[in-house]
Amino acid sequence: MILPNKLNILDQIELAKAEEKLSKQKAKQLFDSGDMSRIEVGSFAGLCAIHAYLFGDIYDFAGKMREVNIAKGNFRFAPLMYLAQSLEHIDKMPQGNFDQIVEKYVEMNVAHPFREGNGRATRIWLDLIFKQEIQQVVDWNRVDKEEYLSAMQRSVVKDLEIKALLKTALTDQIHDRELYMKGIDVSYYYEGYSEFKTDEL
Ligand SMILES: Nc1ncnc2c1ncn2[C@@H]1O[C@H](COP(=O)(O)OP(=O)(O)OP(=O)(O)O)[C@@H](O)[C@H]1O
Ligand SMILES: [Mg+2]
Repeated sequence: MILPNKLNILDQIELAKAEEKLSKQKAKQLFDSGDMSRIEVGSFAGLCAIHAYLFGDIYDFAGKMREVNIAKGNFRFAPLMYLAQSLEHIDKMPQGNFDQIVEKYVEMNVAHPFREGNGRATRIWLDLIFKQEIQQVVDWNRVDKEEYLSAMQRSVVKDLEIKALLKTALTDQIHDRELYMKGIDVSYYYEGYSEFKTDEL
């Protein structure tokens, strides 16, 4: 199914390209404008702000909680019936150290609050928490795609793999523009988008 979009694109390949280009431009702007510093760190409201920023020109559902159930592989993300309640719980989860932050991220992934674009928006959200709370961010370029996706699949049962994987990729270079832009490219690559380089848009 092709998602209804504000660009009135009906061709799925064309939509994927336009979505990648426009939302990467916004991801770049989020950093360069300083808008990122105004995002609430570690809350669902903050995640909505990121999602709306990235996808607001493309989808009506940007920044809004999904209204359908979704699954990936054989995992069903939080059922709609419990989604709002689960997000309230996640908001209250502590984020004072590395383990707590990853645990919160894993729960937000299980919630998967949006119709589309969860992976990409939630990784930015995760880095904002790391940055504020432990003065580090993930160097995504050091996190292998297959290992990451398999650790995330596994995380709904056990979070050891994702914790180990992210821990080895932490860096103190929290203000490094190049690292951020590269991180966006890698994050999009995980989801199958690799047409454009963020910094060149
Ligand atoms: N089987 C799975 N179980 C749990 N989490 C998963 C699974 N597969 C993927 N994920 C996590 O969900 C993220 C995005 O997955 P998905 O494609 O469902 O979301 P999306 O809403 O389409 O987001 P995006 O468009 O950014 O990819 C992945 O990056 C990974 O973190
Ligand atoms: Mg997707």
